[in-house]
Amino acid sequence: MNQYEGRWKTVDVKVDAGIAWVTLNRPEKRNAMSPTLNAEMVQVLETLELDADAKVLVLTGAGDAWTAGMDLKEYFREVDAGPEILQEKIRRDACQWQWKLLRLYAKPTIAMVNGWCFGGGFSPLVACDLAIAADDAVFGLSEINWGIPPGNLVSKAMADTVGHRKALHYIMTGETFTGVEAVAMGLVNESVPKAQLRERTTSLAGKLLEKNPVVLRAAKNGFKRCRELTWEQNEDYLYAKLDQAQLRDPEQGRAQGLKQFLDDKSIKPGLQTYKRG
Ligand code: COA
Repeated sequence: MNQYEGRWKTVDVKVDAGIAWVTLNRPEKRNAMSPTLNAEMVQVLETLELDADAKVLVLTGAGDAWTAGMDLKEYFREVDAGPEILQEKIRRDACQWQWKLLRLYAKPTIAMVNGWCFGGGFSPLVACDLAIAADDAVFGLSEINWGIPPGNLVSKAMADTVGHRKALHYIMTGETFTGVEAVAMGLVNESVPKAQLRERTTSLAGKLLEKNPVVLRAAKNGFKRCRELTWEQNEDYLYAKLDQAQLRDPEQGRAQGLKQFLDDKSIKPGLQTYKRG
């Protein structure tokens, strides 16, 4: 029984064995991100954050696409034709899930890129902690091809992951590249044949499920923030995160990890996670 079945029109959610499978679900429109999809994704992320059964979130797409980017009809043309102030709400919802919620999400996130990934899709792609693509997934910064510079935080997402020359090349030419090339550019972690995509993602999620969730959150969010801070600020901030993780951690992972290595000699932290619970 899937408690989320049919709850959202444009997003499908299933929680199974600790993994929340979040599928952008407009395959007939290549999962283009419409205002409805954006508003629903805000709800999905907020709901799953509080669902104790959802421990790792995987973001993927139905059919041939991960996402064909922003919906050119519903997000651009139809909103342009409406009252000017509507832009505020429409853009806010898009930013809210595509990077604000996702980037520092309380749970680990994996983008599982099954196919087309264009334009606006780069914001949630990079906002996810990790990304695995199908070898033959096709990526493109196609905005230039239809008359706008990259919108939302797409350029920032490129600047955070891809080198200067490559980023400008794809931003300025709109040429496409594959999952294999996306790995070489540092845009995604790895690519695998499409038939193995789900299995590989499940196995990576399984690794994350073994870790202490409070410590994992402090580690990933600490890393993301530290890019923007100076060394001095980082010294303060990262130590504060480290102390916060220890204080908040109900399972007292640090004490357990130290005990299992130093006293019990039952683990080698260089090679494995301490035994939880
Ligand atoms: N916005 C709105 N609708 C979109 C869309 C988008 N970004 N991408 C695809 N669609 C719609 C098409 O209009 C078409 O709708 P229709 O059946 O009502 O005519 C449907 O999805 C299927 O698209 P189609 O182009 O026939 O699919 P395809 O598999 O041949 O090609 C793409 C897939 C992704 C290469 C192609 O749809 C495309 O170039 N999309 C635009 C990508 C883009 O520039 N995104 C950047 C937005 S910021």
